[in-house]
Amino acid sequence: MIASRKEAEAAADRVPGSSLSARIYEPFMWLADKTGFRRWRKKIVSQVSGSVLELGAGTGLNLEHYPAGLDRLVLVEPDFYKAELLAGKQMPKGVEAEIVRAPGEMLPFEDDTFDTVVETLVLCTVGDPEATAAEIRRVLKPDGRFLFMEHVRSDGPRLGPLQDRLERPWMKFADGCHCNRRTVPMLRANGFEVEVTAEQDKFPMPPVARPIVSGIARPEA
Ligand SMILES: C[S@@+](CC[C@H](N)C(=O)[O-])C[C@H]1O[C@@H](n2cnc3c(N)ncnc32)[C@H](O)[C@@H]1O
Repeated sequence: MIASRKEAEAAADRVPGSSLSARIYEPFMWLADKTGFRRWRKKIVSQVSGSVLELGAGTGLNLEHYPAGLDRLVLVEPDFYKAELLAGKQMPKGVEAEIVRAPGEMLPFEDDTFDTVVETLVLCTVGDPEATAAEIRRVLKPDGRFLFMEHVRSDGPRLGPLQDRLERPWMKFADGCHCNRRTVPMLRANGFEVEVTAEQDKFPMPPVARPIVSGIARPEA
């Protein structure tokens, strides 16, 4: 059954978050954004169209990149403190953006609602990536697109195992982020055809959170 807004908000309250981590998020991301992420964000977010859901919109670092002429923009963010900061940001012009507090695992929307779901650096943090992928697929129209940018587990013989060992300490340091998720195979195993459009093994992230991958995933027929 599809969650109501109230149920989704109650589930969002159980997602870890704090006023401090929300306030330090943008300073924490500053260097990475300055040295490359902002360009990646723009490349991905500028491709959205139609009725759009951004998952884990955070404090709104993607807002400046939305194109004009969207039919609808829903910004989903479970963390109360980040959602509050998000609400204070300049919203994209020409569309009334709506902020919804919900976890990716429980999206309070009907099936086949959105033309585009977009996210940056969220599947590394969600509690249940498979359940989130299933929800994204459910709310996407059959010909919709899921645009993503994630850091993923390296296939490198040294870095991959190191990421496995550092998963717990990195989670503590980086607000619940897992540095060793195999996100692209996970999406492929959960009903998406995935085209990786870019992969980058260098800065802007510390080695433990590389490589960065962006792509377009489409629901399998
Ligand atoms: C690393 S931040 C990325 C924020 C933003 N997308 C960006 O690129 O700056 C991870 C985001 O995922 C959100 N998040 C954590 N658990 C989540 C969940 N279960 N469902 C959806 N978003 C979640 C966090 O609140 C946070 O905003």
